[in-house]
Amino acid sequence: MKKIIITIDGYSSCGKSTLAKQLAAKLNYLYIDSGAMYRAITLYFIQQRVDWADIFQVKTALDNIHLEFVHNQLTGQSDMFLNEENVEPMIREMVVAEKVSEVAAIKEVRNFAVAQQQKMGAGRGIVMDGRDIGTVVFPYAELKIFMTADPGIRVQRRFKELYAKNPNITLHEVKENLELRDYIDSNREASPLRKADDAIILDNSNLTMDEQLDLVSQWVEDAIMSHSS
Ligand code: CDP
Repeated sequence: MKKIIITIDGYSSCGKSTLAKQLAAKLNYLYIDSGAMYRAITLYFIQQRVDWADIFQVKTALDNIHLEFVHNQLTGQSDMFLNEENVEPMIREMVVAEKVSEVAAIKEVRNFAVAQQQKMGAGRGIVMDGRDIGTVVFPYAELKIFMTADPGIRVQRRFKELYAKNPNITLHEVKENLELRDYIDSNREASPLRKADDAIILDNSNLTMDEQLDLVSQWVEDAIMSHSS
């Protein structure tokens, strides 16, 4: 059967990665978490004390960054490696979440990440989630989904996820972070978060995971059918 490119864009904590992973497993496609790349770059900038207001420092830092997704036998997922080191748990922490949207708004950072993402999708059979995947990375993708969910529900979901790892986290902190990131992501100059004209909107506020997967699986079938001829 023909393999396609599926893009999933949308606001923070809508469940994009959950859906993307399920779809990739069901279709036997490759899943790429583009947000993990921006998070890893941000982690490097924090660790190396890069002043990202200084474009020269940004360019030098990018020259020294090697990103790679490595399959984890135990979890069955791909882990983000930064310069040969598994940074998977670290990039999900609040210190990174607080800065990632600032870093991801830098044009040079985006060019660096997008070039690698486009290479990964060259063979098709890929599900990639992010903010600009359907608009900039793969504008010719066969199926584009734009995800959204009620903001209160999104805060609760992310709070639960982070609280399990760090019981000191507050609901307020999580809410502020999601609002700030959505604001920066939607208003930046370089490829802002927006729905591609040909993307299908998926509001999953009131859908169970099974209902969501059934619905999107139908969209996938339709997209494959309509691009097979
Ligand atoms: O999982 P969550 O929705 O919270 O975010 P993520 O996908 O891990 O992305 C983290 C941040 O990276 C976003 O808030 C954006 O600032 C940035 N990002 C981006 O600019 N473009 C992408 N394609 C993916 C992420």
